Amino acid sequence: MRIAVLTESDPAEPRVAAVPDTIKKFKGLGVDVTVQSGAGLKAGVPDAEYEAVGATIAATSRDAAADADLVLKVRRPNEEELKFLKSGATVIAIMDPYGNETALKAMADAGVSAFSMELMPRITRAQVMDVLSSQANLAGYRAVVDGAAEYGRAMPMMMTAAGTVPAARVFVMGVGVAGLQAIATARRMGAVVTATDVRPATKEQVESLGAKFVAVEDDEFKQAETSGGYAKEMSAEYQKKQAELVATHIAKQDIVITTALIPGRPAPKLVSEAMVASMKPGSVIVDLAVERGGNVAGAEAGEIVTTENGVKIVGHVNVAGRLAATASSLYSRNLFAFVETLIDKESKALAVQWDDELVKATNLTRDGQVVHPSFQPKAA
Ligand code: NAI
Repeated sequence: MRIAVLTESDPAEPRVAAVPDTIKKFKGLGVDVTVQSGAGLKAGVPDAEYEAVGATIAATSRDAAADADLVLKVRRPNEEELKFLKSGATVIAIMDPYGNETALKAMADAGVSAFSMELMPRITRAQVMDVLSSQANLAGYRAVVDGAAEYGRAMPMMMTAAGTVPAARVFVMGVGVAGLQAIATARRMGAVVTATDVRPATKEQVESLGAKFVAVEDDEFKQAETSGGYAKEMSAEYQKKQAELVATHIAKQDIVITTALIPGRPAPKLVSEAMVASMKPGSVIVDLAVERGGNVAGAEAGEIVTTENGVKIVGHVNVAGRLAATASSLYSRNLFAFVETLIDKESKALAVQWDDELVKATNLTRDGQVVHPSFQPKAA
């Protein structure tokens, strides 16, 4: 059995799907690995480090994929790459399947079995494979680092001979995986941190990190978490109360980090133009939800916007990719943990158990068809 690790074709994607550490583990399972030359460069891994752990280096994606049974990528293979894959090959990546039905059909037509890592169920057995968590955690950290870098003042309180510098006030909106790491990071940097969410379970989590919880805690709030642990879309009435509370709070903040998402819906609008206008010049907002429509009015994907009143709205995309080396190392461990379950230890070959719940949840295409129930073509 041979695994291929391809260079990401999207120039905006610096991560790589395998690092020397995981290649060593694949070799330990008796699997051969080919890495496309340059695949790890943007994540700080030169070809020589892959060779040193026993990988073969191939000059092009065509050469790398030619005889691979399994192809590992960060992003979905494009049309060009699909041409190089063996028919019947398995490909695993962050497939971004929602709204990309045409691309899914292209993978089915190419005869590959495609698996989408972000559809991994959030159950105990699969925690080690949870790419949403591994990458969101890093994004939450990086958002605070980016916010601090754009902020023209210090984060911690400092008592110096020249006078006292006050601690920055950081407000984190949305306390999932990214938000919790943002709170912890801002606290470590010495900021005074407050945070909000609509799920009641987050209150204790916020307080356990030494931050203050700020939220409208009415009856709707008490019911806001779905059985899956996610947030519901809140009523217009709740949103109004929330906006009033946020409006008075946000005017006093120096850095705001927004991370709020609702599965399958556009990101909730939490920070209005008027709220941005109420903030002090020099304040910074980092909108981690910008790729899903944004939490902040005026945020633009891939841009740092400075408003008329001097507030910077940071809209970096692929924020986990801004820590390409760490993100690649965690992502490739998520991948290894999943791939290990797909390999038969005796025959050292791919032996996918099609009725396994992790396989069923993540498998998009097989035998020329889009097989995932969430992406079936709509009946005419
Ligand atoms: P997410 O990325 O879907 O959303 C981020 C946060 O935004 C959530 O905390 C959500 O409640 C909040 N939010 C949504 N609408 C909001 C609004 N209008 N105002 C304020 N905040 C709003 O969430 P993520 O990070 O994926 O976590 C979702 C859940 O999954 C959590 O309960 C988390 O503990 C759980 N989880 C479970 C795992 C496991 O069991 N293996 C692994 C990781 C997370």
